[in-house]
Amino acid sequence: MALPPLLVEADAQAVADQVAARLLEALACGRTLGLATGRTMEPVYRAFVARLKGLPSMERQRLISGWSSFNLDEYVGLGSGDPQSFAAFMQLHLGQPLDLPLGCLRLPDGRASDPEAEAGRYARSLQAAGGIGLQLLGLGSNGHVGFNEPPCQPEARCRCLSLSPSTRQQNAGAFGGHPQAVPTQAITLGLSEILAAEALLLVVTGAEKAEILRRSLQEPPCPEVPASWLQGHPNLQVIADRSAASTLLLS
Ligand code: GLP
Repeated sequence: MALPPLLVEADAQAVADQVAARLLEALACGRTLGLATGRTMEPVYRAFVARLKGLPSMERQRLISGWSSFNLDEYVGLGSGDPQSFAAFMQLHLGQPLDLPLGCLRLPDGRASDPEAEAGRYARSLQAAGGIGLQLLGLGSNGHVGFNEPPCQPEARCRCLSLSPSTRQQNAGAFGGHPQAVPTQAITLGLSEILAAEALLLVVTGAEKAEILRRSLQEPPCPEVPASWLQGHPNLQVIADRSAASTLLLS
């Protein structure tokens, strides 16, 4: 099967620089950004902040005043005041360093009393904003994107769902290393909203993601590997480091 456009960089830092350049370009073109969280995105956001800070201040202000972004997901039960929430992650990595006006970084409200209703509200606000221009995506070790856990069909919509034991294990680092401390549920954009983005940028680093990246890109799409549905998107770019790309069959 033909690979989508794939850029392989030496390491996570070089990957971050490439991704930051694309984010800046999308912001400068007035595109709505679809943002992600996770360890993969930490160097990406550092590089993005450095690029923005390197611009003349008027240009930076112009870009920031046109900022529109929607995050993929949030844990149910956590709000921006909880350091482990994705809202707090975004505030730490982009909001504070860039001095973004409050409300710029949009995420589902994990503290909403009715998470399913909140998922519907979030999907409608994304639709009202015209959808996503450039969607940044990390890759879960079980093949999830956002929190679309396997099995997942490409028609899945923004919703509240239960997190798998393996995802709670994967994300335990932010919760003192205790998987049982990771919330059991999350609100996530569905694959349908993700696949509706004009462009997708899948960012994968580290040898531990090599096998799931290979399955995502080089096996026929299937519900067991949610990221494999990305293959059907006409404008998917993959940026990986050498370790993550090590098992791809490059031709
Ligand atoms: C998390 C997030 C995803 C993220 C993925 C990878 O659970 N919901 O959006 O891309 O898992 O995380 P990491 O970059 O820490 O490996």
